[in-house]
Amino acid sequence: MKQFKVATIPGDGIGKEVVPAATDVLDTVAEIHGGISFEFTSFPYSCEYYLEHGEMMPEDGLERLQEYDSIFLGAVGNKALVPDHISLWGLLIKIRREFEQAINIRPAKLLSGVQSPLVNPNDFDLIVVRENSEGEYSSVGGRIFRGKDEIAIQNGIFSRRGTSQAMNFAFELASKRKKHVTSATKSNGIYHSMPFWDEVFEEVSKNYPHVETDSQHIDALAAFFVTQPERFDVIVASNLFGDILTDIGAGIMGSVGIAPAANINVNGKYPSMFEPVHGSAPDIIGKGIANPIGQVWTAKMMLDHFGEEEIGSVLLDVIESTTHDRILTADIGGVYTTQEVTEEIITRLKERA
Ligand code: NAI
Ligand code: MG
Repeated sequence: MKQFKVATIPGDGIGKEVVPAATDVLDTVAEIHGGISFEFTSFPYSCEYYLEHGEMMPEDGLERLQEYDSIFLGAVGNKALVPDHISLWGLLIKIRREFEQAINIRPAKLLSGVQSPLVNPNDFDLIVVRENSEGEYSSVGGRIFRGKDEIAIQNGIFSRRGTSQAMNFAFELASKRKKHVTSATKSNGIYHSMPFWDEVFEEVSKNYPHVETDSQHIDALAAFFVTQPERFDVIVASNLFGDILTDIGAGIMGSVGIAPAANINVNGKYPSMFEPVHGSAPDIIGKGIANPIGQVWTAKMMLDHFGEEEIGSVLLDVIESTTHDRILTADIGGVYTTQEVTEEIITRLKERA
């Protein structure tokens, strides 16, 4: 029996509603699998915690979290209690940075029965691998001559290590999927970093002769996400390009409430963190109508990360069978509650056993 120790941080708002739903689903997954189990430990780090303690998590918070195989997070943010930059930097970004979660992955797939805003979405199923620690999001640079003659310089940081790490991850992932990697570049406009990005991509791709590649400028790629998303499998992108692409990905899926994500620690020194794309959804807190699919699909990504890909794909099949049969929450045009959708997923999982 393999036991996975998971730190859960429900956080704020609907995080408190969808995390318990998803851990119930995971307990059912363990039950029907037979060979795995989960030990969940819940941490109260949130904006309410901040009001009480003056910090988003205790000083030894990271040390405590480090003991777990992974972190399963709901959403953080409650502007009425704490400014967003404090809650974000005090918890989420701290964990991502300190635990060297250098890669962010976000799938975008059309679920049967869910209406995409695209008129003709076809059957897309792609995943963006975003370099998550360097690139355009650096603090290197500065401003001089404040006032009329002011100059601002913002440097991008592209290391061979960070770049090839993201690319290797993308190729490994593609090897288990449709065996195609698209590189998001802009080497026609960005003079230094993007030609370097292209070179590293070329180098890394040589180690994966069975994976097809192509390279697209980010502007054209953004348009293709809207016009032909079905042509992509795995896309590897720098921090900024990946940030923008993944939001288009979530957009074409039909609701932010169904989109999953993972922050991956590649060197194995620290736990990875799994969190849906959506936030705390203050407008629907307590109504019982939050879509649990984003969090449950995120749980599927955690299963994949643990090497339990077979049961992970069963879980995604089951999620899709419920949307196909239109057991939907309000954000995707249905009338069902968080609890009803969750129970339906659990029932169908048991039927599959
Ligand atoms: P949001 O994602 O919380 O909400 C945007 C819209 O989508 C709202 O209308 C909401 O009701 C709806 N929505 C989101 N998730 C849903 C779900 N599972 N089911 C049904 N409807 C859903 O984004 P917003 O309003 O910009 O941010 C609210 C708070 O969440 C802020 O404090 C923000 O900083 C924080 N936030 C946190 C994130 C995280 O923890 N990773 C990510 C995004 C925002
Ligand atoms: Mg973004």
